[in-house]
Amino acid sequence: MEFTVKSGGPEKQRSACVVVGVYEGRKLTASARQIDQISGGALTAILRRGDLAGRAGQALLLHNVPNVPCERVLLVGCGKEKDLTEGSFRTILGHTARTLGDTGATEATIYLCDLEIKSRDLNWKLRHAVEAVEDALYRFDQLKSSKNEKRRALRRMVLMVPRRSDLAPGENAIRQGEAISKGVKLAKDLGNLPGNICTPSYLADQARALQEQYGIKTTVLEETDMRELGMGALLSVARGSRQPPKLIIMEYRGGKEDEAPVALVGKGLTFDAGGISIKPAAEMDEMKYDMCGGAGVLGTVKAIAELGLPINVVGVIPSSENLPDGNANKPGDIVTSMSGQTIEILNTDAEGRLILCDALTYTARFNPAVVVDLATLTGACVIALGAHASGMMSNNEALARSLIGAGKYAHDRVWQLPLWDDYQKQLDSNFADMANIGGRSAGAITAACFLARYTRKFKWAHLDIAGTAWKSGKDKGGTGRPVPLLTTFLIERSEKRGHAG
Ligand code: BES
Ligand code: MN
Ligand code: ZN
Repeated sequence: MEFTVKSGGPEKQRSACVVVGVYEGRKLTASARQIDQISGGALTAILRRGDLAGRAGQALLLHNVPNVPCERVLLVGCGKEKDLTEGSFRTILGHTARTLGDTGATEATIYLCDLEIKSRDLNWKLRHAVEAVEDALYRFDQLKSSKNEKRRALRRMVLMVPRRSDLAPGENAIRQGEAISKGVKLAKDLGNLPGNICTPSYLADQARALQEQYGIKTTVLEETDMRELGMGALLSVARGSRQPPKLIIMEYRGGKEDEAPVALVGKGLTFDAGGISIKPAAEMDEMKYDMCGGAGVLGTVKAIAELGLPINVVGVIPSSENLPDGNANKPGDIVTSMSGQTIEILNTDAEGRLILCDALTYTARFNPAVVVDLATLTGACVIALGAHASGMMSNNEALARSLIGAGKYAHDRVWQLPLWDDYQKQLDSNFADMANIGGRSAGAITAACFLARYTRKFKWAHLDIAGTAWKSGKDKGGTGRPVPLLTTFLIERSEKRGHAG
């Protein structure tokens, strides 16, 4: 979809379709009122007949509205004016995009940024309008032989802003929305691809494609390299798989040469059967999404490269499958991680932390300013927070605050859980430096406690995205999270530096 901004009243727009909002109780928004006035009360008359109550999700397409130069007017229900939230704004925009897609209009002129959302400015509304539209129009049908051939005529959306002075900042907001949407689409596509296509090698190829497209330096470490580096934890996970593991490294350099990078480390487990500690069969297909941390790194790197952000970022993706096999690691096995710390593997299904710990140790060579890891790490996090927030644990309060703030603005929220030392003793092992599981209680926190033993030298935050990276059930599919959160975090970080410098 092509997006542009424009200012001017709806009475002057010669568009295929003008879109205006109607609140519940048949209350017109400001732009709807303008159309009502020039048309001699056409909208109020229609609403009086009861054709549109204004509930969220409703829409009514009108043709031949008197004195209005556009071909169609789409009235969109916005719900109760006082109930309008960030979430409902996005739902309204998404619904509008789908409704427009069902019409013959090739272009639409949209007056929905005049909706009032508490403490959200025009920049927020434009950016989220773009993201919500792209999200709603996303389809993953590349593996269906007969595509759902409903060709959409809609090509262009013009988002209307109140003043001419809003145009330049508005363009910028749209650009950010588009970049984030591109990153989200990449992350969704990779998540939705099945394990027999999206293997560690496939993820490595995706990173190389970003190198081609944006000139981002990409390095892929092979099994032999990992052995030389002593990555015994990562390698132990790959033992049961016929697919070779990969450690993918991307270096985006948009900032000053000597500036310490932000490191993003994403779990790229392309299928998690659990290994010898095998998972139950029900919904095991969803474990193809266990690489969504890695996909989130690729998506975020794509988004910041699109924006050309003046910042240095290193993306690191440890990638493997976790399958049972005669050669697979077994409960009780003890491995030595790259850091030298030994690990007793009491459950082969707690593999995410095993591949991440070596990737985190490796990341030290970039002298990162901060490290954020993202991983579909624990079922316990899904139980704790559901699909609304990613779990966040950090050893640095300032970093935690920035992530919480960025998550709120991006509508891709995190909720902080404690990382107190009190939890550490759950990882005690009789035979090694630590066990890879910490018992049933506080499973999301003990997983983070494990990682904390590999990040002591960093300002570090861990995002458990097990509940947020994909949706189950009838709308099964990747969400692209946490690309909006991380891109916003990096935009904000680069701006602050910009002001200071
Ligand atoms: N990839 C899973 C976590 C997961 C499970 C994400 C279900 C989303 C839904 C991870 O590798 C795993 O299996 N974790 C175990 C850890 C346990 C053995 C300590 C879990 O959460 O059950
Ligand atoms: Mn697992
Ligand atoms: Zn896993």
